[in-house]
Amino acid sequence: MKRPAALLCIAGLVLVMGVIPRSSALPWDEDMRNQPSVKPQESQVRTNASSVPTRDKETIPTPANIGELVVARLTAGELQNPVRATPESLNMGRSLYEVHCRTCHGDQGRGDGPVGLKFVVAPMDLTMDYVQFQPDGQIFFTISHGSIAMPFYRDSIPEDDRWHVVNYIKHVLGQK
Ligand code: HEC
Repeated sequence: MKRPAALLCIAGLVLVMGVIPRSSALPWDEDMRNQPSVKPQESQVRTNASSVPTRDKETIPTPANIGELVVARLTAGELQNPVRATPESLNMGRSLYEVHCRTCHGDQGRGDGPVGLKFVVAPMDLTMDYVQFQPDGQIFFTISHGSIAMPFYRDSIPEDDRWHVVNYIKHVLGQK
């Protein structure tokens, strides 16, 4: 092949590789990604019956669909909050909220964080009665298991810390 023709071929190949969408890349390209693991920022914990959390002792089974999610969240309302809303707890809650929740739920919890604004189902306004009237255990459940679009934090925020966040939502965001 003459040099210009060879160069043209290479240029063409580069162009074609550039426009192939990632999803239709060569089949073995995605092998590392396509494994039965929970992906970061996945909404809801997906587990089978025998799975256990990597830490703590969360025992509420994973809901299989939205109906079950609602029932499981209501049932979790019976959980007692073991962490008193002391100033220390509220301080912990604030810094955890700022790391994990603020990007979506916003500074004041109104669902207007920079990432939240991009969501089609907007993040819940945490100052609304709908959230504020929920028993602590229900909010704890949402943090642990995630919701419909919201990611879950069962494995990334320890149990006590999740209760600190609940306290912050109820005793600080809810009071504004
Ligand atoms: C990636 C964006 C995102 C992050 C981060 C996020 N949320 Fe959400 N959250 C949502 C969205 C969207 C909804 C409403 C839709 C749904 O229920 O999934 C929601 C709903 C909620 C609800 C209401 C659930 C209900 O219907 O009772 C609570 C409570 C909540 N979030 C708390 C939190 C807390 C606490 C954190 C931090 C630990 C957090 N969220 C982090 C997006 C997010």
